Amino acid sequence: MEPALTPTRSRVEMTQIVMPTHTNGVGGILFGGVVMQWIDVCAGVAAMRHAGGPVVTASIDRLDFLSPIRVGDVVILQARVNYVHRTSMEVGCRVETEDMRSRARSYTTKAYLTFVALDDQGRPRAAPPLVLETDEDRRRHAAAAGRRGERLRMRLHKKECL
Ligand SMILES: CC(C)(COP(=O)(O)OP(=O)(O)OC[C@H]1O[C@@H](n2cnc3c(N)ncnc32)[C@H](O)[C@@H]1OP(=O)(O)O)[C@@H](O)C(=O)NCCC(=O)NCCS
Repeated sequence: MEPALTPTRSRVEMTQIVMPTHTNGVGGILFGGVVMQWIDVCAGVAAMRHAGGPVVTASIDRLDFLSPIRVGDVVILQARVNYVHRTSMEVGCRVETEDMRSRARSYTTKAYLTFVALDDQGRPRAAPPLVLETDEDRRRHAAAAGRRGERLRMRLHKKECL
């Protein structure tokens, strides 16, 4: 029997080392756009793993960078699916740096992304339901449902402003 499509099943961890080409030229600090790209890839793979096929990024919520990431740092990204509606999925992605000497990790940023599963014609298609198995899964799911409501309100507001 196929294992259940839980958040753990599609979870992704991705590790990067910050190279000089990733920096913005100001004191060897990682360029924000590079972190955004890594987040999009890490979260996108979790969404594809859950959906069992291609997805597209529909939106990325606000991003705050709490501490700078510097050249030579090791960056760890962890993504998991929090919520599945019909065709859309919310994926949370946490970004940390790891100090190899002390083995300590520092929290850098967190993002919530919405992906839409696509069919072979590139149209939205239904994603499989998410199986919640732990209290943590249920807590994340409830929080994501609240954020979805807020996102839909913002989307409607933007459309009205166009
Ligand atoms: C995302 C996209 C597929 C949605 O298509 P659409 O024709 O608006 O489809 P729908 O209105 O039926 O929405 C489909 C789902 O996406 C969700 N959605 C659409 N826009 C969204 C947004 N900005 N934020 C969050 N969710 C969104 C809807 O809520 C719906 O979810 P549900 O099926 O789970 O209820 C379409 O807008 C698109 O292709 N955008 C470009 C994506 C892209 O190129 N991304 C790369 C970055 S440039």
